[in-house]
Amino acid sequence: MKNPYRPILTTIQKITIENEAKDLKTFQLTFCNDEEANDFHFQCGQFAELTVFGVGECPIGIASSPMDEKFLEFTVKRYPDGLVTNALHNCSVGGRIGVRGPLGNSFPMKRMESRNVVVIGGGFAFTTLRSTILYVLHKANRGKFDNLTLIYGARSPSELLYKDELKEWEMREDIQTHITVDEGDENWKGKVGFVPVVLEQVAPSSKDAVALVCGPPIMLKYTLPVLTKLGFEPSEIITSLEMRMKCGIGLCGRCNIGSKYVCRDGPVFTYEQIQALPSEF
Ligand SMILES: Cc1cc2nc3c(=O)[nH]c(=O)nc-3n(C[C@H](O)[C@H](O)[C@H](O)COP(=O)(O)OP(=O)(O)OC[C@H]3O[C@@H](n4cnc5c(N)ncnc54)[C@H](O)[C@@H]3O)c2cc1C
Ligand code: FES
Repeated sequence: MKNPYRPILTTIQKITIENEAKDLKTFQLTFCNDEEANDFHFQCGQFAELTVFGVGECPIGIASSPMDEKFLEFTVKRYPDGLVTNALHNCSVGGRIGVRGPLGNSFPMKRMESRNVVVIGGGFAFTTLRSTILYVLHKANRGKFDNLTLIYGARSPSELLYKDELKEWEMREDIQTHITVDEGDENWKGKVGFVPVVLEQVAPSSKDAVALVCGPPIMLKYTLPVLTKLGFEPSEIITSLEMRMKCGIGLCGRCNIGSKYVCRDGPVFTYEQIQALPSEF
């Protein structure tokens, strides 16, 4: 039986600095062992514990698509006082990182088939949503889903993740892309406004639709009422929770909300499930 605490050894192949502040980096990793690479299968919305050896580990959402079998990608925000995120940001190409996972549940991709998909993201919580968009847009999958609408916002143009991909998506006809920033700059020609306001303007239909929403708590707070106004049922609004975690496999009790362990029963929950959680959350 596999030891769930043992990290799988990977090599950093590429590091992309995502923003001017250089505190958001995307790490592309490949497995050091072919057998372990072949055994690692994940779904959109899952996460892994990333280990910096000698320092520690932390949970990070998988940002690459399950269709890309050759590598994994993780986008990591460095906290000024964060032990592991700082250590990760100090790593270089060729360095070794441990990956423990995949962990947690996933977005219900099967249930979303033949339906309209509305993806709403804010800030750097966009990572697993990016995985989902890449998955849906893959030529082997695009025909399985109906309309794909993306509303994604960041504080400023520099803070937008995956800038090249956003440009590509804006050119495509099989995804309706609405990118917005809280505050533009002299070069920004796109939308300016908070995600919930843009959502209300775009007003995607709730008919046969599922909404995936990930972002900071303040964005979620103002986005959920707009989705409700547009007619989305709580069971069709899906989000991902970020709690402090330790084991990531439902054993240490660090991440529970009532009887639910966010690491094992989540991190993906419908709004209907969240409404049923104890009010302390
Ligand atoms: C399922 C899941 C997916 C995640 N995906 C991503 C991702 O894709 N990219 C990403 O950059 N981050 C993600 N996170 C958050 C990430 O795990 C934390 O930023 C990380 O654990 C911080 O580790 P650290 O050792 O650097 O910080 P620590 O040294 O542990 O703490 C540094 C500071 O950050 C605060 N802090 C740390 N973690 C949290 C938290 N979860 N909630 C509130 N405050 C916190 C601490 O209170 C402290 O002030 C995810 C978390 C979860 C649970
Ligand atoms: S992190 Fe240990 S139970 Fe969830």
